[in-house]
Amino acid sequence: MSIAVNTQEEQRKYHLMTYGCQMNERDSEIIAGLLEQSGYRPTPVLEEADLVVLNTCSVRHSAENKVYGKLGQIKRLKIQNPRMRVALCGCMAQLPDVRTRLKKLGVDLVFGTHNIHQLPLLLERGADMAEPCIEVWDKPGAVVEDLPSKRADGISAFVTIMYGCNNYCSYCIVPYTRGHERSRSPRHILDEIKKLVDEGVREVTLLGQNVNSYGRGLDEQVDFADLLNLVNGIEGLWRIRFTTSHPRDMTAKLIDAIGSLDKVCEHVHAPIQSGSNKILKLMNRGYTREYYFELAERMRKKIPGVAITSDLIVGFPGEEEEDFELTLDAVKRVGFDASFTFMYSPRTGTRACSMPNQVSREVKHRRLLRLNEAQYQQALEANQKFENRVVEVLVEGKSKTNPQKLTGRTRTNRIVVFEGPETVIGKLVPVKITRAKTFNLEGELRAGKETQSEN
Ligand code: SAH
Ligand code: SF4
Ligand code: F3S
Repeated sequence: MSIAVNTQEEQRKYHLMTYGCQMNERDSEIIAGLLEQSGYRPTPVLEEADLVVLNTCSVRHSAENKVYGKLGQIKRLKIQNPRMRVALCGCMAQLPDVRTRLKKLGVDLVFGTHNIHQLPLLLERGADMAEPCIEVWDKPGAVVEDLPSKRADGISAFVTIMYGCNNYCSYCIVPYTRGHERSRSPRHILDEIKKLVDEGVREVTLLGQNVNSYGRGLDEQVDFADLLNLVNGIEGLWRIRFTTSHPRDMTAKLIDAIGSLDKVCEHVHAPIQSGSNKILKLMNRGYTREYYFELAERMRKKIPGVAITSDLIVGFPGEEEEDFELTLDAVKRVGFDASFTFMYSPRTGTRACSMPNQVSREVKHRRLLRLNEAQYQQALEANQKFENRVVEVLVEGKSKTNPQKLTGRTRTNRIVVFEGPETVIGKLVPVKITRAKTFNLEGELRAGKETQSEN
């Protein structure tokens, strides 16, 4: 049976599912582009797909489990639809022990994060798919540019500026699934953004596991602050976002750039991970809680109105009650505008996985609930400061939870829900905040342009 397609009549359908972070979302746009170039068209209905593609995440056990659950469902569907083929890619594909398991789960094609560009070739080569085809590169090759991509519609787009990570935080699988850090050249990044702006995009989010170390290893002398300057100069672009920032690499030059460049939004996602110096050391994060507090203060001074957000892990091996209390204390001291909170999940192959004093599930769970409570309180308090103020909102579309209303984001990445005509979708509008909640703001559209800054 062929999974390669040529003729219009028998155009094959693909169904693509994406798990994990924005890096995967961006990769999925490329995967969709490559599939459509190879003659496939998308279907939102899993059951009618000829090719199901799962772009997977390994960051926590729960992320992998979702995929195993889906593979079980697909295996049953394949009995009813013997034409159906399953491809798996993304971070799980990079892990040898996971790959061994996949063979038993009816996966027909496996490719990795380093050889996405080979997809058309693999589809052609695996034409009969009688045997599972596994083609995964252990190490990244040179950065491949100019791949086709099917961008999500809208005013906002992701732009990957670097791949991989060299940090080896002791809990994290990403350096193993994404390889060492490689930066794209500024020219390629700028060309991509200019093209997006020509197509109507007004906001870009620059992506990397640690954007702050952008430029290392390039021939040109360019760092992330320089890149922000260059992107800020692109005419027609309104807003620049970026994620993720490693606190250790947050230089004074970068803080100044964020504070002074008009298009760069006042939001820094700089995960502290833990508030305990003992745990930060075991995590190999390269900073102390005191360093972070001082950094947060400097950012608040130099970037008026800045929103600082974090990722936080509870139950890292060796975390005792007093360490956890220090994390709670850090959440309050910094006053994070929002945080993603996680229970530590041991990942095979990482250093923390074999550390002594692993914390029980019950303790992790209890700590997570307490942490969430503290973080939600901070988020609500930070949001309440916006009540009765008029802020600039980039309108993204209809609200998913309430289609009668519109939704958009402030410069500090707060979601605002308000009533208004569909004609303002894709525009910057002033909205008066009427009610602050933990995860979003409610507001009223204002006539005119009297937006106040969020400082
Ligand atoms: N490069 C980014 C994102 C990494 S993954 C960064 O450094 O912030 C996103 C988040 O997942 C991490 O910040 C961390 O908080 C969390 N994470 C990573 N590995 C984890 C693990 N083994 N268990 C629990 N959370 C984990
Ligand atoms: Fe993982 Fe640390 Fe790299 Fe982030 S910086 S991807 S947490 S190793
Ligand atoms: Fe997951 Fe890979 Fe992203 S492990 S968080 S999809 S880099």
